[in-house]
Amino acid sequence: MATGTIQVGDKSLELPVRTGTIGPDVVDISKFYAGTGAFTYDPGFTSTASCESKITYIDGDEGILLYRGYPIEQLAEHGDFLETCYLLLYGELPTNAQKEEFDYNVTRHTMVHDQMTRFFTGFRRDAHPMAIMVASVGALSAFYHDSTDISDEHQRLIAQIRMIAKMPTLAAMAYKYSIGQPFVYPKNDLDYASNFLNMCFAVPCEDYKVNPVLSRALDRIFILHADHEQNASTSTVRLAGSSGANPFACIAAGIACLWGPAHGGANEAALKMLGEIGTPDNVAKYVAKAKDKNDPFRLMGFGHRVYKNYDPRAKIMQKTTHEVLAELGIKDDPLLDVAMELEQIALKDEYFIEKKLYPNIDFYSGITLKAMGFPTSMFTVLFALARTVGWIAQWKEMIEDPSHKIGRPRQLYVGADKRDYANIGQRG
Ligand code: CMC
Repeated sequence: MATGTIQVGDKSLELPVRTGTIGPDVVDISKFYAGTGAFTYDPGFTSTASCESKITYIDGDEGILLYRGYPIEQLAEHGDFLETCYLLLYGELPTNAQKEEFDYNVTRHTMVHDQMTRFFTGFRRDAHPMAIMVASVGALSAFYHDSTDISDEHQRLIAQIRMIAKMPTLAAMAYKYSIGQPFVYPKNDLDYASNFLNMCFAVPCEDYKVNPVLSRALDRIFILHADHEQNASTSTVRLAGSSGANPFACIAAGIACLWGPAHGGANEAALKMLGEIGTPDNVAKYVAKAKDKNDPFRLMGFGHRVYKNYDPRAKIMQKTTHEVLAELGIKDDPLLDVAMELEQIALKDEYFIEKKLYPNIDFYSGITLKAMGFPTSMFTVLFALARTVGWIAQWKEMIEDPSHKIGRPRQLYVGADKRDYANIGQRG
């Protein structure tokens, strides 16, 4: 094994350098503190691998995303979401029989405990659906006690299936609750995406026919969002899970992290920004704002911590957006006009080229989801729904690794030195 040597003060330490299947080598610093008495410092984890994983690979410079080795383009073109779930969870694409069994199991777990409906009614109608998701997914641990023992392999398996199966039901309930319509129960004869569309848009008083083009587009959106290696919410799930917390609680933590505008909340923020820009002739003004060091404004849907090239998901998403708009007969969408103009200007602008800021997946997903009829407040909920399988697969990988330990970062302390307590009258 290759090694690297580091000198800290008068101490010299030889560190193993590990080589993965693909990607940069990793210097193993796990014995760094024991060997040198010093910590390493890397806020934002820009240079730190937090775990070993076999699930997802990203080459940000080349714009490559692989799930278990398969390029995202091929999975999005030829596969379906539940097949992707199987792949992420178990490492291989399913055979016909395995797929049939997996789809059957997910479909048979889509209903939620009826008591959950009363839990929902405790919320204000104008509650953000992400707030409802954080709470209701966390609350699953109070409803499904028979799948919270993480030391029991069977319970872990049931929890994984339950989570993937119930997320669309909870997400649709959060939406229905916000618009004051009755909850629609899952229908077992529909595929995963169609079932979700039905639960969101059907009403009990008339028939609703799922548009297959929209359902295929939504399924593709789910595939694109299914996993993204050690991003903020996945790392949150792993950290929460490292303490032994039950999987429902861990996924609720992931949802909370995803909510932020620098992460999953960017699709909502991107659409709001396009609306604020309003018309293509305003684009240059907003690009100038984004470049202004004294203005905190950023182009939402642009830039990525890892991708320093076009986000491969954004390319597929752009095609899906056009398919959905064509199917719905939306020819002149002002938001799309603004988006196209913004993309063109930003891609040619020196600032964006130099900083390698390209459109990310959130740039186009908002336009597509809006055209399908989802309100902006639901965008991040759909992201959470799709990412649940990635979170669960990463959590499963961690729990099944016998060497896993509680995540516990250290710090560079810069606060007050040790000092003595002074009585209140004697404080200056
Ligand atoms: N608009 C204008 N300037 C930007 C943008 C942007 N969207 N993103 C980064 N920059 C600039 C930033 O000001 C900085 O400039 P300088 O070096 O002069 O200080 C430089 O580019 C590097 O930015 P950073 O914030 O240090 O980069 P990061 O890797 O920490 O942040 C990011 C990545 C995604 C948080 C950031 O690009 C951003 O805030 N983008 C907008 C929000 C967004 O679209 N997020 C969705 C991410 S994709 C979906 C997901 O994975 O959740």
